[in-house]
Amino acid sequence: MTWSNQEWWPDLLRLDVLDDNTADTNPYGEDFDYAEEFEKLDLEEVKSNIEDVMTDSQDWWPADYGHYGPFFIRMAWHSAGTYRTADGRAGAAGGLQRLPPESSWPDNVSLDKARRLLQPVKKKYGKKLSWGDLIVLAGNVALESMGFETYGFAGGREDAFNSNEAVEWGPETEWETTSPERFDDGEVGNLKDPLANTVMGLIYVNPEGPYGEPDVEGSAANIREEFDRMAMDDEETVALIAGGHTFGKVHGADDPEEHQGPEPEAAPIEQQGLGWDHDFDKAGMISSGIEGPWNATPTKWDARYLDNLLDYDWTSVKGPGGAWQWRPVGDDIGDAPGAQDSSETEQPMMLTTDVALKYDDDYREILERFQENPDEFQEAFSRAWYKLIHRDMGPPERFLGPEVPDETFVWQDPVPDAAYELVANEEIAELKETLLASDLSRSQLVKTAWASASTYRDSDKRGGANGAHLRLEPQRSWEVNEPEELETVLDTLEAIQEEFNDSRSDDVRVSLADLIVLGGNVAIEEAAADAGYDVEVPFEPGRTDATQAQTDVESFEVLEPKVDTFRNYLGDEYDDIYDYPEERMVDKAELLNLSVPEMTVLVGGMRALGATYQDTDRGIFTDQPGTLSNDFFVNLLDMDYEWEPVDENNEIFEVRDRDTGEVEWEATRLDLIFGSNARLRATADAYFADDAEEQFVEDFVDAWSKVMQLDRFDLE
Ligand code: HEM
Repeated sequence: MTWSNQEWWPDLLRLDVLDDNTADTNPYGEDFDYAEEFEKLDLEEVKSNIEDVMTDSQDWWPADYGHYGPFFIRMAWHSAGTYRTADGRAGAAGGLQRLPPESSWPDNVSLDKARRLLQPVKKKYGKKLSWGDLIVLAGNVALESMGFETYGFAGGREDAFNSNEAVEWGPETEWETTSPERFDDGEVGNLKDPLANTVMGLIYVNPEGPYGEPDVEGSAANIREEFDRMAMDDEETVALIAGGHTFGKVHGADDPEEHQGPEPEAAPIEQQGLGWDHDFDKAGMISSGIEGPWNATPTKWDARYLDNLLDYDWTSVKGPGGAWQWRPVGDDIGDAPGAQDSSETEQPMMLTTDVALKYDDDYREILERFQENPDEFQEAFSRAWYKLIHRDMGPPERFLGPEVPDETFVWQDPVPDAAYELVANEEIAELKETLLASDLSRSQLVKTAWASASTYRDSDKRGGANGAHLRLEPQRSWEVNEPEELETVLDTLEAIQEEFNDSRSDDVRVSLADLIVLGGNVAIEEAAADAGYDVEVPFEPGRTDATQAQTDVESFEVLEPKVDTFRNYLGDEYDDIYDYPEERMVDKAELLNLSVPEMTVLVGGMRALGATYQDTDRGIFTDQPGTLSNDFFVNLLDMDYEWEPVDENNEIFEVRDRDTGEVEWEATRLDLIFGSNARLRATADAYFADDAEEQFVEDFVDAWSKVMQLDRFDLE
């Protein structure tokens, strides 16, 4: 085995995560259109095939109670439950559970078998049904087959074929451990962004309690923080845990450490991707190492979980698998049938995380309300489950299939349909002229368009220019958007919009969202013309303006950039897992779906345009700001200059002329990284050359318009 560059130099900036944005790992080819394929499915038939699998117990992994339903619900929950709001990554999309590390996480123990059980369904439908959709759909079908009414199902999760290395899971190097670096100031309870789980390799929290101790208070605090990072409030949290644990059982007939083989990624080749091998005739069924069902009817939707939890007292004990769990005080609780042999019985148990809900006043109130009002429980669980499994899919246009509910949810960041005719070439030309004649500078126009479009993140398809959320809270008040200046820019743009719309005697109207993008585009066309290039930046109208009422302020807050390389904004509050601003740069570029060259050319171009935060000169290595020249690269790589840090964090630098010693420019790490990192320097080389400027202008325009269009799912 040889070491990779990353292993030789652990501090090397990881740019390979951007390669996934261009790599063609999809075996179906470039033209593959998953949405089109999915629409060919007969969903009813697929569901009935899944249902057949669910009740056809296999000798190689016999079904508990003759029904794989609970097992499939756990699989679907673990697939969707990795989603975290801070960066929108993970979640059910991509079918990432079948790839490492998720495939081998201790928390996903045995789910390799659940997916293998569904292999015949995948085989039958092939590219029409992704693993991402199949895993989630199986959870829905399982709930329905056990008497629960779900809120619906949307397809559209295209599969990934390689692991998503951009997802930061935390600093620990050993499974099921928690290190102080996971938390802000090393304090337990305050997770660093974008993390959402407290333990490496677990979806959210330790079922035995924090640090494996049956501490119900600590456990409730953990649950609240982590479910919040999945965008779930108290009611949704209780509904999900109580709803889920109405079904099935936990498996720990014996000690996993003694009887369980290695996880899939570490298992021998003959196991063919399966892991955690054990002889269950000898050791019993082992998964988590905790043992028992929650109630006497584990394959039926009812309120028995709530009854058992609330009507009985529970005490902590070590179970047969050696883990902390809770048993009822007294013997009058209804026993469940044996999972493999119905002539036997097994006493119900609870996890520390279940009991924690009962000892937290707010959670308990909700539990009691659900117990008294089963309809409310059903409604709350069905809504929370629907949100859980669809939260990472983005806007409503991406929800496919006959079971999508009519309702639009606020967590989908809805924008209105255009109730007017869109502007065409003639009107676009007229608006461009008005924009240029206004008192808005090129830098203002470019920064405003960038501020609007660059909130997009490809992880959960949120953000972007559509909706003109930039003029609404919280976005218009974000520090990076220079709120005071933004207000005057928006006033001018709104006046242009109003004047144009009022002037029309027909149905043609322009949205502010479109006007903001058009403003950036026309400024770039002018800047390119000044550099001697005649370019037209592609523009597709059709964005509409959302209202404040449609915009959930709290949910939008996670889109706020703490650093923005492209505007050379360093920010000052880093409560995240990254050590250097340039790591945050790559993280954002990955979310913008950019390649290394696209990121590079955008930074160089934005500097040439003078589009920096507070119009700082940092990084503007040119005598002609506002002209789309390749000066940024020319001067950054020039050996006539030398660079020196001027602050103790090594974030700000001065460049001096080597001969005269005179300070020529200032720069940040976000500039100098393009000269210091070998791969970025290699890319910068491609743009600094004497023959490169035209290419630079073309590539900048392409990358810019890509960002402006990232959220245009309506065009696909
Ligand atoms: C099973 C923990 C939330 C659905 C389990 C198991 C553990 C666990 C340890 C046993 C796995 C095994 O040994 O087979 C937790 C924790 C949660 C949580 C700590 C959050 C605090 C949820 C949610 C759902 C869910 C939100 C679904 C909405 C299930 C189901 C099973 C299960 C259906 C039974 C699987 C089977 O019978 O094979 N959970 N869970 N859980 N969980 Fe959860």
